[in-house]
Amino acid sequence: APSDPDLVARATAAKAKLGSKVFVLGHHYQRDEVIQFADVTGDSFKLAREAAARPDAEFIVFCGVHFMAESADILTTDAQKVILPDLAAGCSMADMAQLQQVEAAWEALVDAGVADSTVPVTYMNSSADIKGFVGRHGGVVCTSSNAKTALTWAFERGQRVLFLPDQHLGRNTGVLEMGFDADDCLLYDPHKPQGGLTQAQLGEAKMLLWRGHCSVHGRFTKSSVDEVRMRVPGVNVLVHPECRYDVVTAADYVGSTEYIIKTIENAPAGSAWAIGTELNLVRRLGLAHPDKQIMFLDRTVCYCSTMNRIDLPHLVWALEELAEGRLVNQITVDPKTAAEARSALDQMLALP
Ligand code: 13P
Ligand code: SF4
Repeated sequence: APSDPDLVARATAAKAKLGSKVFVLGHHYQRDEVIQFADVTGDSFKLAREAAARPDAEFIVFCGVHFMAESADILTTDAQKVILPDLAAGCSMADMAQLQQVEAAWEALVDAGVADSTVPVTYMNSSADIKGFVGRHGGVVCTSSNAKTALTWAFERGQRVLFLPDQHLGRNTGVLEMGFDADDCLLYDPHKPQGGLTQAQLGEAKMLLWRGHCSVHGRFTKSSVDEVRMRVPGVNVLVHPECRYDVVTAADYVGSTEYIIKTIENAPAGSAWAIGTELNLVRRLGLAHPDKQIMFLDRTVCYCSTMNRIDLPHLVWALEELAEGRLVNQITVDPKTAAEARSALDQMLALP
């Protein structure tokens, strides 16, 4: 549906009043009505770097989810303020790894005598607390575009990796890119004592995969792929590595959000693509490439509900409050956690 013209006018006016004091970041999964006001769009990694590259903007309005706004706060100066237009825009995957649970897992590794030879690696999609834990234990953050490089770095330093919080990105990278056997990658269930594993298993595993997943990408199935191949002969199946292992192995191409966009941009006219990632992005790719046949991998999967919480009314409210001199919905990370998380983020930025 087209955006409400009154809200569009109000957002435009508030942004104009704020001028260069405000910089609006928009994740690729945001609604069209929000994306139209983004000064830059990108995946979570690119947006964190963009935030860090704007030291003159007093207010960074982050149209994305909570962990992204935290990363932006960690990477910006103390004088800058990061605003999340709706505080309820969390991420169910990030919520699947709580600090207490991860500390208990580490204790289990200590008890098994294997913590010293384990390196923690966390996906960007995790809270600042978890990134802080990883920094404290000499680990690294990764994104969906550099997971293999981060794991290679980690395996130069230890015999096994505790991978947080997305089991699918961990398994897909470990098995398909690092060449591990599926049996070398064991699921660590935070709701079971010792993750549901024996001490021997904790020691033998190459990768301990935290039992977390994305509630959007985790819903694509192997039958989604089979069905679209039947329906559209010659279709190319392109999916995000947060999808399940059997979906990724059945697909033709796998990669991060930025990789998906570039692949479609470079695809020949007339080619057909079934894409397994968030629906707002797939819809916009279809509109931007009318010469290609772009479809959603599975019509029963829907938007990321937390990404979608940032809507035009929330954005207008945040911008108007800022324009009136009232700071709302600021996201802050305490200095100790921020310093530890920053070391894990800086380690990622220093990867070859
Ligand atoms: P990227 O933004 O790194 O592509 O991650 C995908 C995602 O699910 C973000 O929430
Ligand atoms: Fe989290 Fe998945 Fe939504 Fe990304 S798409 S914010 S990983 S639930």
